[in-house]
Amino acid sequence: MVVATQIIQPTSKNFIPQPIKYSNWPNSAFLESCQSAGYLLDQINIMDGMSGSRIERNGRQLINLAGINILGLQENPEFIEIFCDKTRQYGLATGGSRLTQGVCVPHWLLEQKMNEIWGKNYTLTFGTGALANIGFINAMTAALPVDGQIKIDNRDAVFVLDRDCHWSLWNPTSKLKYGEQLFSFKHNDPDDLEKVLKKINSPKVVVVFETVYSSDGSVAPIGQLLDVCEKYGALSYVDDANGFMIYGERNRPFYEEYLALSRATFIMVSFSKAIGIEGGAISGPAEFVATFEFLSGTALFTATMQPPTAATNLEIINYLQAHPEIMDNYLLRCSQFRQILLDSGFCLNNTPSYINSVYVGKDEVAEQVRRELLELGYCIPIFRYPAVKRNQAVIRLMLNNQHTESDIEKFIQDLKKVRDKYQF
Ligand SMILES: Cc1ncc(COP(=O)(O)O)c(C=O)c1O
Repeated sequence: MVVATQIIQPTSKNFIPQPIKYSNWPNSAFLESCQSAGYLLDQINIMDGMSGSRIERNGRQLINLAGINILGLQENPEFIEIFCDKTRQYGLATGGSRLTQGVCVPHWLLEQKMNEIWGKNYTLTFGTGALANIGFINAMTAALPVDGQIKIDNRDAVFVLDRDCHWSLWNPTSKLKYGEQLFSFKHNDPDDLEKVLKKINSPKVVVVFETVYSSDGSVAPIGQLLDVCEKYGALSYVDDANGFMIYGERNRPFYEEYLALSRATFIMVSFSKAIGIEGGAISGPAEFVATFEFLSGTALFTATMQPPTAATNLEIINYLQAHPEIMDNYLLRCSQFRQILLDSGFCLNNTPSYINSVYVGKDEVAEQVRRELLELGYCIPIFRYPAVKRNQAVIRLMLNNQHTESDIEKFIQDLKKVRDKYQF
């Protein structure tokens, strides 16, 4: 363990500076134990070249089943060209937060597009989806005397979250008292949501859930959950980070679940998944979302999304709308991949969404499996405690549309060999 102590230089100040003892902090021991258990890497992984269905990392070519940009459009030469063109037109950065100078045309056009998609009258884009979620909770719990008559106090707002919500939704609620201002309901369970809402006696309630849950690919009964929100007059915030531009079309899986989505008060998306670039957005009623510019903190106190990023996000949304067969074909390949995994005897998550999680169980076994598959030339992510319950670890497999059939075949053969060795 390296224990550093700051060296004190003589100063002209009239006090003797105290040495800072890094050893008073637990971080060094934490780092060491995380590295030996595989939670943190001993060495940063450095990718040389683009991240896609394959990556070149630390000098090795790997087949990548960890990437969330599932269609691989971020490496498509046409979109790279569009990004470069928009960079020449708008530069690399907006040059500050939204409220200082304003946004560029591409941000505004992207926000109009999101309004049109969801039938809402205001969309605010953020640097990432996580910033959108954190900003939403900040804004909806804000208590701020601005200036004389101008003030807001939402400390009486009550939040009810699905237990499996993403870190970026749970984390900003940590300042709320559980059982008074914060409640949870059983994952994807409208009856349990109703039980919780029945007990809450507040005129200001916000229910928060996701469409597609990233660790196990489960899909919410969106319409039934929104029915309960409507019955109790609660606002609803639905995080569609993992479903945006993937589900919702009549011919695709989960059409029934998605039918009701536009009824949600707020819909949040991430542009890092199907779109494959970066950014997030919240669409909803102007009287709320316009205040988020100020109250979220994650719009006001941070730089705005890069203009070429906003422009390329919009181009890809338009492209996917004009070519639905791309997503249709991707979803077909995902369901074939799932079927092969099932036929090979793997235990998979219950919901047949595009996210296929293979159950491994013991946390240390999952880490061994990750290392072994890395040796065999694959990058796969494992989800284990604290991302999921202890010893319920899974390997989350994201098919990339650029994977070839032989990549998939070879992977399944190798996964079987590793399964036989570790018995999961
Ligand atoms: C449900 C959910 N919400 C939000 C996010 C954050 O999205 P972004 O990568 O755009 O910050 C993620 C990403 O993992 C997610 O799965």
